[in-house]
Amino acid sequence: MKFSDVKYKLMNGEVPTLRSHGPAARKFNVVTLFFGVALGFFLAILMEFSPNRSFSKSDYAPMHGDPHFGHDLSNAFGPEGDVGFHEIHDDTHAYENTTVARQLYNEVKILCWVMTSPKNHKKKAIHVKKTWGKRCNKILFMSSTKDPELDSVALPVSEGRNNLWAKTKEAFKYVYQHHLDEADWILKADDDTYVVVENLRFMLYQYSPSQPIYFGCKFKPYVKQGYMSGGAGYVLSRQAVIRFVEEGIPDKSKCRQDADGAEDVELGRCLEKVNVIAGDSRDSNGRGRFFPFVPEHHLIPGHVDKNFWYWKYIYYDSKEGMDCCSDNAISFHYVSPNQMYVLEYLIYHLRPYGLITNPQPLPKRISLVELVKDASLPARTDDNTSDKSKADE
Ligand SMILES: *[C@@H]1O[C@H](CO)[C@@H](O)[C@H](O)[C@H]1NC(C)=O
Ligand SMILES: *[C@@H]1O[C@H](CO)[C@@H](O)[C@H](O)[C@H]1NC(C)=O
Repeated sequence: MKFSDVKYKLMNGEVPTLRSHGPAARKFNVVTLFFGVALGFFLAILMEFSPNRSFSKSDYAPMHGDPHFGHDLSNAFGPEGDVGFHEIHDDTHAYENTTVARQLYNEVKILCWVMTSPKNHKKKAIHVKKTWGKRCNKILFMSSTKDPELDSVALPVSEGRNNLWAKTKEAFKYVYQHHLDEADWILKADDDTYVVVENLRFMLYQYSPSQPIYFGCKFKPYVKQGYMSGGAGYVLSRQAVIRFVEEGIPDKSKCRQDADGAEDVELGRCLEKVNVIAGDSRDSNGRGRFFPFVPEHHLIPGHVDKNFWYWKYIYYDSKEGMDCCSDNAISFHYVSPNQMYVLEYLIYHLRPYGLITNPQPLPKRISLVELVKDASLPARTDDNTSDKSKADE
């Protein structure tokens, strides 16, 4: 057998047959060995640079090109002009029954504040305003400059990652001073978070805004009771905002005083100190409702390596695949501006004909006593007086 035959057979996946007798065969074995080693080496290099390989321990780069970090979206742009909208008399919408959603709009009032910055007003924040933002009872865009189109709030803070914590404190102080009586619940989201506001109201319906509690995608480290991921968004009861602003922010033994620090971890630490419960936002099947990544990341098994930080951080046991996410999911993060309109269309317009969903019955309300029993935090004596909870009415 000639060398070129071996090469041909190897390339076609065949094992070359070798007759192992005589000096010619022995010489040939050496050539084969050398060739085999070279081929193995070549394949190893090929696999190292393959875009579809799974993660190595030291490399947490995204696999399928979806964003896992803020800077992945830094060059993403949304549509320049208006994308138009569907009218309520359009085909399916004329037959939609919105009775329960309208009831909850009035009973579970949500003020949304969106963390943005001057360079993202036109790039990202405006697309939040044009999509899910319009479903909040009130929406505020927290920035450091005014923008008439966005109607942003100019907070007295500097921009940049190192000031996120300062901005978060200022934003909640602003809401507390100017808008607290307009909402039961205060949601913080990023300008690349997509929120299904109706599902947020459905989850919050069980609780009272006078209970000291907040919800989001709960992470395990740094804070004893866990803390909520910043990007997936978190929602504080009115009572939680009061405690944060009145007792937490001014007290250096409870809350970090400077501008620096991871906003979500610092908020989690501070809220724990003022006895605000880190709530459980999973649905009745134990599926999550707040997500720190885009749907694909959670839906496709093996999308990220088991060493990816997410698996170490996530508080509750979470599944990959179709079982990952609640049918009443509330939020996804790292959603590009264009993708906001895609989600908008898929969630609010596309309907499989003839499949009619009646709303699930509204759940029983949870009293503060039950809440405190489940959480590890001790109840405070002022809980009873401050809690004119709907659950107790
Ligand atoms: C809409 O839904 C509500 C609550 O489920 C129900 O009471 C009402 O009859 C429905 N309206 C129509 C027109 O079907
Ligand atoms: C609240 O009131 C109930 C009944 O009056 C009492 O049993 C409970 O201990 C009180 N809780 C707190 C935190 O004071």
